Amino acid sequence: MTTDTSTAPIAGAATSTESGTIPNPTAMVPEDLRFSVAPMMDWTDRHCRAFHRTLSRRARLYTEMVTTGAVIHGPRERLLGFGAGEHPVAVQLGGSEPADLAEAARIAAAFGYDEVNLNVGCPSDRVQDGRFGACLMREPDRVGDCVAAMKAAVRVPVTVKCRIGVDDQDPEAALDALAEAVTRAGVDGLIVHARKAWLQGLSPKENRDIPPLDYGRVLRLKQARPELPIAVNGGIATVDAAADLIGQGLDGAMLGRAAYADPAILLTVDPVLFGEPAPVADPFEALEAFLPYVADALAGGTRLQGVTRHMLGLFNGRPGARAWRRHLATAGTRPGADLDTLRVAAGLVSRESGFGHAPLAEEAAV
Ligand SMILES: Cc1cc2nc3c(=O)[nH]c(=O)nc-3n(C[C@H](O)[C@H](O)[C@H](O)COP(=O)(O)O)c2cc1C
Repeated sequence: MTTDTSTAPIAGAATSTESGTIPNPTAMVPEDLRFSVAPMMDWTDRHCRAFHRTLSRRARLYTEMVTTGAVIHGPRERLLGFGAGEHPVAVQLGGSEPADLAEAARIAAAFGYDEVNLNVGCPSDRVQDGRFGACLMREPDRVGDCVAAMKAAVRVPVTVKCRIGVDDQDPEAALDALAEAVTRAGVDGLIVHARKAWLQGLSPKENRDIPPLDYGRVLRLKQARPELPIAVNGGIATVDAAADLIGQGLDGAMLGRAAYADPAILLTVDPVLFGEPAPVADPFEALEAFLPYVADALAGGTRLQGVTRHMLGLFNGRPGARAWRRHLATAGTRPGADLDTLRVAAGLVSRESGFGHAPLAEEAAV
């Protein structure tokens, strides 16, 4: 693997704000969806995204879901601000009122996001109470109206992340209806979490594991709509598995938990999926490249743990990975923890990687 750290994107310095000057691209090409890290509440905050960006220049990164109400009435800079080094980065909105989504999309686009995504997959009770998220699978025309309103409001691509159906819906009919409605509205791409959501009786966590995966359903959708960029999500554990699904005809794959738990897998995204060198050679270089960002964050009042909580899995599979995690979970959470704390933690990890990438049994037990 060739290493080129000179252009490694170090986030931190400039920040996109509502008056951001980053030009908005207008069209999505299928390659834009080739690989992405999923939107994950409480996980994919700006620190997490900045960290992931040190591991891949090409992965598309998504924010946590933000509701239209929060965007329109809440503290925008805190909810939407992000570092200039995070591009390409998409904002995910939660809502079901076309006018509110248009307004929220306009506000988010002004921050400089590269894409606005609508959540049609979240099954939580709170989201169901607001009649958005996965329950919108039952209202494809409404989703189409939402997409049309968002498209009219912004120049950046508008995408939808959905399920293959909910509850007793037939996934063939439900996904077709959704895809038809959003295509008519001009959607730029669809990301399909390849399982149903069961809206009664399962927690959001169970809804990410229990309904069975059906990649075949997403492949059939792509065959039926070759012109629509479509990425698949759900249960994809490695970049090779993503490449395999792309090889079967899909435009891209979105990884959530695997990328978060084992971020070093992102080091293979650029070489394997884009034929380009990784920004850094290994997790140690990634950490080194990320230190200026951490220093900026600390200087801005963020506690070390606020950044490093996303990095606990960085050394998975190496001797000392457990000591790294333990040091960050103890010394790293104390007031005053700083870059030295981080360096000490990294010093506990062996640079020998002869143990393969799978977590050691000893470490898997943590
Ligand atoms: C902690 C957590 C938070 C999540 N939050 C969101 C969210 O805000 N919006 C969304 O569309 N999906 C959310 N998801 C679902 C993921 O985006 C993804 O669809 C799901 O985890 C399946 O992909 P995976 O098997 O690769 O993790 C979340 C998942 C997790 C684990």
